[in-house]
Amino acid sequence: MASDKLRIACTVREAREAIAAARAANQRIGLIPTMGYLHDGHVSLIDLCKNHADYLVVSVFVNPTQFSPHEDLSRYPRDFERDRHLIEAQGAHLLFAPTTKEIYPEDSQIRYEIRVLADHLCGPKRPGHFEGVLLVVSKLFHIIQPDVAVFGQKDLQQLLIIQRMITDLNFPIQLIAGPTIREPNGLAMSSRNSYLTTGERRESATIYRALQEARQLIESGERSASIVIEALMKRISKVQGSRMDYIGIVDLARLQPVEQIQGRIAIALAVYIGQTRLIDNMILEVNHGKVQEIPAFH
Ligand code: PAF
Repeated sequence: MASDKLRIACTVREAREAIAAARAANQRIGLIPTMGYLHDGHVSLIDLCKNHADYLVVSVFVNPTQFSPHEDLSRYPRDFERDRHLIEAQGAHLLFAPTTKEIYPEDSQIRYEIRVLADHLCGPKRPGHFEGVLLVVSKLFHIIQPDVAVFGQKDLQQLLIIQRMITDLNFPIQLIAGPTIREPNGLAMSSRNSYLTTGERRESATIYRALQEARQLIESGERSASIVIEALMKRISKVQGSRMDYIGIVDLARLQPVEQIQGRIAIALAVYIGQTRLIDNMILEVNHGKVQEIPAFH
């Protein structure tokens, strides 16, 4: 599917006009929300969306409400021209690139409150983060009114919280999860990888290796979450310049820590390599002797 020409909308009104025309032509609308500085992970999400929609909308917006004051909002990588070319080359139809003023014309007074799913993992480490994500994603859902929206599984907690918002608030949107795309050395692709020095990039390959070793430990019969977490900690602590933020083994339905590894679980972690915070995860289905890697939505 190649789009004739990529249309760019910077205002809500322009976006709504473009979408109304696509809807009038009976097209199924797909949305891929991003914060820009696109990489192959985003490209794979756009590709995936082509299987589910006729009219592809990619949003590029670095959302201030999901950053805490000490986080990297001002230095978050941006390259609009490069993103535009990539999005056009992928055959998307509309690029929605609003300014902060357009999305937040006034200080918003309304916030989400997230129960259970944000209790662990990134939730306590990034207070207000998922509330900010839901705020912007729900605004994007209202503006674009997509039939389908695609998010990456690398941000597993975000993915499950957004799915829950869709269910709880009756958004008529199908959520599709895209698999994590990795660098040749196993590092999960992320716009923040651009912060890494060559040495740090090499070192960070250990994160995925450690997850694979955790899986092997479980395959060999280990079922104690604390033993697997300890093994992961030990492995990652050897990485030069690393600092563990968290490692959790949680059930996939509620993201609550488990003691015994059984059923559908996720091993999720965040680690600083130098100044850069990287996240990754592995989802497993463990049924007696059988251990299988599974996607978030099975
Ligand atoms: O995953 C991201 O890039 C962002 O959290 C999202 C979903 C685009 C919301 O700003």
